[in-house]
Amino acid sequence: MAHDVARPAVALVTGGGRGLGWGIARAFGRSGARVCVTDINAAELAECAADLAADGADALVLQSDVADLAATQAVVRQVVERWGKLDVVVHNAVYMPLITFDATTPAEWQRQLDVGLGGMFNCAHAVWPQMKAQGGGHIIGIASGSSFRGYHEEIAYCTIKHGVEGFVKALSLESAGYNIAVNTVGPGALIKPTRLTRAEAAALPEEVRAGWADPVELGKAFVWLAAQPPRRINGHRLDAGPIVRTLAAEGPDFAFAPEKVTLYPDDFRARQAWYDNYTG
Ligand SMILES: NC(=O)c1ccc[n+]([C@@H]2O[C@H](COP(=O)([O-])OP(=O)(O)OC[C@H]3O[C@@H](n4cnc5c(N)ncnc54)[C@H](O)[C@@H]3O)[C@@H](O)[C@H]2O)c1
Repeated sequence: MAHDVARPAVALVTGGGRGLGWGIARAFGRSGARVCVTDINAAELAECAADLAADGADALVLQSDVADLAATQAVVRQVVERWGKLDVVVHNAVYMPLITFDATTPAEWQRQLDVGLGGMFNCAHAVWPQMKAQGGGHIIGIASGSSFRGYHEEIAYCTIKHGVEGFVKALSLESAGYNIAVNTVGPGALIKPTRLTRAEAAALPEEVRAGWADPVELGKAFVWLAAQPPRRINGHRLDAGPIVRTLAAEGPDFAFAPEKVTLYPDDFRARQAWYDNYTG
């Protein structure tokens, strides 16, 4: 069966109660996609549900922990029962306390990995049979500067973000045969710092918030990627900022160049050369 990339798409966004995931979910909703949003924070999830309803989006909002595989499988089941397919899964949720190595207890380390990296596995594992059966789809993780650099007090976070890239690079080799794309997308723009709740962010001075990109605008990059045939871009790290700028300047059918979709075009070319020549 050929993968049906025709609208309306069906999308799942984890950790969409606030922040970037909230913007991605709203962008999908506004594009006409049916969208499921999960989060563990019930209060912010309710605010997200109200925002999606105000947009007129066809939405399903579920409180669910992405670190729990059975719960993630149940989310996928509910989406497919309701809409018949699941075209794109964005694993956006993260738990990121800024703490030193001394403060990183084994339990703390494990929880961070279970959400950020385990959540990526859980999403892919949960949606894999459905995407194979329907003939394809997109699995998207979220990239960061921490995907390839180290930062103070981000021991687990940097490990997670590096790990997600490894997951994408290796799984893309296997997913290609099923017409499933596995990529990451970074914000590629300054956004609200991770961890800040809606209320904490709103309490900051206007001049601080004015420096942040609109997550709903950045979400358009995810909508664009999800509309691409899965074999076109697979195993890569993209960035929403450059994609959104390109969409505004040239429209969705722009002539492709790595510079137009990522802050790291050299990495894009190096990966492509590896994939093109890899015979293992
Ligand atoms: N904010 C930045 O500057 C920045 C930069 C680069 C990458 N990112 C990435 O963007 C993504 C979103 O980050 P953000 O800045 O919007 O963060 P955020 O803290 O505002 O949002 C994360 C959301 O995930 C939810 N969440 C946490 N644990 C969960 C779990 N176990 N199951 C389901 N949901 C859970 C939280 O409740 C929250 O709503 C993350 O992957 C992050 O690494 C953010």
